[in-house]
Amino acid sequence: MKNPTRTSRSRTLAILLALGLGLTSLPPAALALDAPAPVKLQSLRGAEIQAMDPEGDGTRNDKDRPPIPRDFVQQPPLIPHSVKGYAITKNFNKCMDCHSWTRYKETGATKVSITHFKTRDGQELDSISPRRYFCSQCHIPQSDAKPLVNNTFRRAEGLSSK
Ligand code: HEC
Ligand code: HEC
Repeated sequence: MKNPTRTSRSRTLAILLALGLGLTSLPPAALALDAPAPVKLQSLRGAEIQAMDPEGDGTRNDKDRPPIPRDFVQQPPLIPHSVKGYAITKNFNKCMDCHSWTRYKETGATKVSITHFKTRDGQELDSISPRRYFCSQCHIPQSDAKPLVNNTFRRAEGLSSK
């Protein structure tokens, strides 16, 4: 049987060699880049990059509702309630007021999952891991804002119920 690491190592070597030869055998003129065509910068909305953002029509936090179905299995669930006034500071985390393992029963919130207690080095803690402290880094509330641009995103096939 072939040794897979060996094969891939010699393949890398061959690619490196080919690249090296390619570069050194080029005439110097070919190395100078052609002057790039001017790039036209545009915002996602298609406006000039320096144009002011149009004044929004005002968005509101969506009304509280039951948990929102996930679109792919590893997704941080979307926040199905308003987060107005829910501060997360160095000393206090409003989300954990309801979502911690000591509070979830009385508040009716989903408890944070066990993955949220693991540090980046794999150490299991008994309180929320620093890398999971700033909830809104991953979990986002919903609003009635219109999408800025259209997209064709579809729910992962494993989760669609057709
Ligand atoms: C006053 C209590 C309370 C606070 C504060 C709170 N939540 Fe919630 N949260 C809930 C309840 C209740 C639910 C809904 C549980 C249900 O209906 O199954 C929920 C649901 C969620 C869910 C959906 C879980 C799922 O399985 O889909 C997420 C995510 C979430 N909250 C994140 C947050 C974040 C982030 C914060 C802080 C910005 C926060 N919550 C603050 C009570 C709270
Ligand atoms: C680095 C990203 C990240 C941060 C920060 C984070 N979460 Fe999550 N959260 C996830 C992901 C991914 C999942 C789904 C997989 C899992 O359960 O780990 C999840 C799942 C959840 C769930 C659903 C648990 C279940 O059993 O279905 C709740 C509730 C939740 N998070 C609340 C919070 C709260 C509250 C905070 C802040 C204290 C927080 N999360 C911080 C990524 C994050």
